[in-house]
Amino acid sequence: MHINRIAIIGAGTMGRGIAQVFAQAGLEVLLYDSDPDALAQSLATITERLRQQCVKGHLQEAACATALDALQGIERLEAIDADMIIEVVPERLDLKLDIFSHLRQVAQARTILASNTSGLDISALAQASGRPDKVIGMHFFNPPPIMPLIEVVRASETSEETFVAVIALAERLGKTPIPVANSPGFVANRILFPMINEAIYALAEGVASAADIDRVLVLGASHPLGPLALADFVGLDVTLDILDSFARRFDNAKYCPCPLLREMVDRGELGRKTGQGFFSYP
Ligand SMILES: NC(=O)c1ccc[n+]([C@@H]2O[C@H](COP(=O)([O-])OP(=O)(O)OC[C@H]3O[C@@H](n4cnc5c(N)ncnc54)[C@H](O)[C@@H]3O)[C@@H](O)[C@H]2O)c1
Repeated sequence: MHINRIAIIGAGTMGRGIAQVFAQAGLEVLLYDSDPDALAQSLATITERLRQQCVKGHLQEAACATALDALQGIERLEAIDADMIIEVVPERLDLKLDIFSHLRQVAQARTILASNTSGLDISALAQASGRPDKVIGMHFFNPPPIMPLIEVVRASETSEETFVAVIALAERLGKTPIPVANSPGFVANRILFPMINEAIYALAEGVASAADIDRVLVLGASHPLGPLALADFVGLDVTLDILDSFARRFDNAKYCPCPLLREMVDRGELGRKTGQGFFSYP
């Protein structure tokens, strides 16, 4: 199956980056968000980023115009005509289940349904969709236009045809797809988020300052970014949701989020997106 027309549900940090990647690769992109302001903001941001790519000479003028023509915001999730729909709403299973149940009614029978979840159960989404063989995880990394990896998450119900089509699509985007099993956090986040949590515990216990904890990992372990700066980049609310879901699904206290993380989220210190997290972003 060749995928040419994509609909993206959720136009936040990841949805807008994913939309840009598809538009730049020459696919038709329909972008939807339940918040009309978020949708308008995302369309403006993608347009600006594509124009900048053109100004810097990374994208030819004609390719930029084609990408902009291929991108369209939609105001309602009704009768969607797309080869594939990707769900990119916040990391809450109830929210994602509602969307997959709704897609059961409004998506065409041929349409593949993917989720960009950071680690929720793809099988649960597959059951809600009414077409479990056509459901798959397509986990992009932040920022999607730059990061080369896509974890392709195959649930036990996912058909070979769906899997092959999504691997081919990821390669068409110029990305490297790596197949992973449908296990909490898949591979990347299962390793990254406990490390971030441990860094927050080290900060809370006064082992070192936030800047020094990050410097240790950058200078001593060759990480491009320290774990606290990474948490600020991902969003502390997203980080908390991911750790909470690991603790529940593995039923293991070692994944319980550090209380300091919860306190910061309660105070609205969510990282870069609010200007304050472990570091300040004036
Ligand atoms: N932020 C990251 O670094 C990152 C990286 C990889 C994967 N992810 C995953 O991507 C998904 C989205 O994360 P994000 O960081 O883009 O979140 P975000 O909060 O930046 O964006 C989510 C968007 O979804 C919209 N939304 C909420 N409910 C909706 C609904 N019912 N229908 C349509 N739109 C709705 C919101 O208005 C918002 O614009 C999550 O599953 C997250 O785990 C995030």
